[in-house]
Amino acid sequence: SKGTYEFYMLKEISEQPSVLRHLDQFYLDDKGEPQIDKAILTALAQADRLYIFAAGTSYHAGLVGQALLEHLTDLPTEVGLASEAGYHFPMMSKHPFFIFLSQSGETADSRVVLQEALKRKIPCLTLTNVPNSTLAREADYTMSLEAGPEIAVASTKAYTAQVALEAILAKALGEQLGKQKARDFSLRTNLALAAEGIEEVISDQKRLEQLAQKYLIPSRNAFYIGRGIDYPLALEAALKLKEVSYIQTEGFAAAELKHGTISLIEQGTPVIALINDPVTSDLMRGNIQEVVARGASVITIASKELAKPNDDLVLPQLDYYLRPLVSVVVSQLLAYFASKDKGLDVDKPRNLAKSVTVE
Ligand code: F6R
Repeated sequence: SKGTYEFYMLKEISEQPSVLRHLDQFYLDDKGEPQIDKAILTALAQADRLYIFAAGTSYHAGLVGQALLEHLTDLPTEVGLASEAGYHFPMMSKHPFFIFLSQSGETADSRVVLQEALKRKIPCLTLTNVPNSTLAREADYTMSLEAGPEIAVASTKAYTAQVALEAILAKALGEQLGKQKARDFSLRTNLALAAEGIEEVISDQKRLEQLAQKYLIPSRNAFYIGRGIDYPLALEAALKLKEVSYIQTEGFAAAELKHGTISLIEQGTPVIALINDPVTSDLMRGNIQEVVARGASVITIASKELAKPNDDLVLPQLDYYLRPLVSVVVSQLLAYFASKDKGLDVDKPRNLAKSVTVE
């Protein structure tokens, strides 16, 4: 039940710190080392390339997983939209390994890819929130997202669980492959920091509601921009905002705006800028100036060590690759309030169903 929450979406957003703590308990041992089925690790360690397939929000979680997996395992990792790969199968390496991400485990588009992969004897692992689902049963291997039932149509806690589980998998595989980076990556510390960071963001929700009311609700359109790990985050943030608030929102690699889309910026167009990438943060500040100069109303969200005095929201310290775990919650809450304060049915946006069982 929703308990004291007005909508499932807010309940599920609020559950994210406990989802991360539960994943620690479920997958890590006393020393904080990942405990993963030996058969899965052995199969993964034989791969020369990883392929992640998913749809929607799960696809966006896959893009973060790609960065995590490549960083901690040095294995080239590709991410594909299941709906595209199913009928236009990508070129494969010699020893591919497929990872499917699906909250429901019932997404028909992903199932097409899975069926084709099984025919080709490619080993397949499904990460899903529904252990008995079709994609879990049909794959060679499966792991549970452990996020608890997700009722709201807009996916929130399943995304954070997917990113966290990808980090767990990346560390385990990296260690299996003898990578020092993987041994040095403290999952326990980072998952705990992420859980605390999410709590901080949630306790600041009144401020996020005010930002949504001031900048988003009056607008027909909006942009999220980011670079590095903030680019896939911008895609997810934009999907969340548009699907529940009906404000047309695009997520953009910040430097790409000037290659065309900047012509859409008008006086007052809301642009939410994510600044979590130390490598490109100065360039990002320049990209923000470009849209400010065209009249955009910019909301800046920055990691503590990159923050400037006028930033709208400062996020606590966290490993670079896991920053989406906290930043995404900002975008979930902005989307939630933009929808709720417009009087919309937050949990059931029009034209959508919770699981998409048609291709
Ligand atoms: C968006 C959303 C969808 C799903 C997509 C895949 O909030 O929920 O984009 O992420 O339909 O669904 P699953 O993960 O069940 O395969």
